[in-house]
Amino acid sequence: KAENLALTPPMGWNSWNTFGTDINEQLVMQTADAFVELGLKEAGYEYIVLDDGWMAKERDENNNLVPDPKKFPGGIKSIVDYVHSKGLKFGLYECAGNQTCAGYPGSRGFEYQDAKLFAEWGIDFLKYDWCNTENLNAKGAYETMRDALYASKQPIVFSICEWGDNEPWKWAKDIGHLWRVTGDITNCWDCEVGHGNWSSRGIWPIINLRKDLRKFAGPGHWNDLDMMEVGNGMTDSEDRVHFAMWSLLTSPLILGNDLRSMSNETLKTIENKNVIAVNQDVLGIQAYCHLKSPELEIWVKPLANEEWAVAFINMSNDELLLSYDWWKHPINDQLTHKQLEKKYKSYSMYDLYASKNIGLTNKNLESKIKGHDVLLLKLSPQK
Ligand code: GLA
Repeated sequence: KAENLALTPPMGWNSWNTFGTDINEQLVMQTADAFVELGLKEAGYEYIVLDDGWMAKERDENNNLVPDPKKFPGGIKSIVDYVHSKGLKFGLYECAGNQTCAGYPGSRGFEYQDAKLFAEWGIDFLKYDWCNTENLNAKGAYETMRDALYASKQPIVFSICEWGDNEPWKWAKDIGHLWRVTGDITNCWDCEVGHGNWSSRGIWPIINLRKDLRKFAGPGHWNDLDMMEVGNGMTDSEDRVHFAMWSLLTSPLILGNDLRSMSNETLKTIENKNVIAVNQDVLGIQAYCHLKSPELEIWVKPLANEEWAVAFINMSNDELLLSYDWWKHPINDQLTHKQLEKKYKSYSMYDLYASKNIGLTNKNLESKIKGHDVLLLKLSPQK
């Protein structure tokens, strides 16, 4: 696969969660404009990914893929150029099977031809899905497209969308830069919606299903928890939890809302530089669950420079009165309490959403956390 790409989790936007196949060139251009005007580009968002629905239903007489002439009258190259002219990158969707999940032509049997076309269009990112793949071997199918992209000589981030059934975390490190770990997300806290042979999941069912994959993620190869649903109907506090968890779990931060019409509160959450910095930390180590009870979960992520991100999440609907003794449950697994005391007097605590220092860990942390909300801290050692 192309090297030195996605050394931190990719950040961007994808059309699917809000628009489905109802996409067109205005949407792409207006979204690119919004990236710049709203400061999203400055905050680190980079990829604009056009998901399923961009093609005509048939290949042309030379078996080339054809952009839908109504949705994309100027073709794909012209919108790629537009996105590039804004200093952003462009991603496109295809599928390993005979057809995409929405029934458009898939790449099976045309991998090299399609990769060449994508490279000619100048794409920077390919999301490659797994519908209609009867009798295909998953690893082999993704290797074929990886090799085809590599042969095109264009540095393309390869996003594997296999949903976890074939455990891509075990084999995809040298094939793709990110791999989906579940079926599709839906915009709720803890629901699961059945669709016959698969389910879509809210944020906590996704996290809980795949919480044991942290050792498989790292620079250049990430567990993908799916495009985000921030701004798509959960409460603002639930969105803060969602964004914090995707950041802690080093998931790609791919927005899934309509950037042209979002609330100030949504924009504030997705542009929070402190939280983004947790996701983009150079070590690329995924968080682990440090403590779990029905009311409270504590998640911890090691950061560079011996700093830590720590999230206290109120899982209940009622306000939580937190009084937390840091020394009873030292977050650093490797060090005993006594060693910790010797090495650092204590850590200073910075509230990442409120952007303020809130004291030292040498006494209990006292806080009130609203229902379905998070207190997200960065701890820095006091040497
Ligand atoms: C699958 C993927 C989604 C989206 C749709 C498009 O369900 O998991 O992310 O790409 O296909 O049809």
